[in-house]
Amino acid sequence: MHMKDRFIAWLRDAHAMEEQALTMLTAQAKRIQSYPELKARIERHVLETQEHLRLLQELLDTLPSGGISLVRDLTGRLAATAQGLGGVLTSDEVVRGAMAGYAFEHMEIAAYRVLIAAADELGEVEAKAVFERILQEEIAMADWLEGNLDDTTRLYLLRDERDLQAKR
Ligand SMILES: [Fe+2]
Repeated sequence: MHMKDRFIAWLRDAHAMEEQALTMLTAQAKRIQSYPELKARIERHVLETQEHLRLLQELLDTLPSGGISLVRDLTGRLAATAQGLGGVLTSDEVVRGAMAGYAFEHMEIAAYRVLIAAADELGEVEAKAVFERILQEEIAMADWLEGNLDDTTRLYLLRDERDLQAKR
């Protein structure tokens, strides 16, 4: 039973992590003005993240001791809000946000790789398929952000140099 309990705990952690992602991404998308491509990609990932939450919730609902961890979800949302506020107070928030997003996507990738291995070990075929599907979208977002970091940084520097609105 240990293995299954650990699996459920990781699944709850993933749910809290997606809640945190949703809070962060929604706040970022709302604030960005001068970087339309970045804004559009984040808005797309907000929709994907809502779907990830729904899929994880469905998995949790089928488990005997499932149910989300409200405390962890709340902690995650508070952490995300704090992170968001921290970024807002800086004059380079778009670059900091892009860096934070890139790092966060890789944390998600690691979490889903762990869940895939655990689901495989437990023979949780359906759950494994869900994690693999989500993982692909996290990798796609991480790749996009990686490709975009250079552009966002240069555009930020150019706009800032010309006293155009650069920070967001
Ligand atoms: Fe993500």
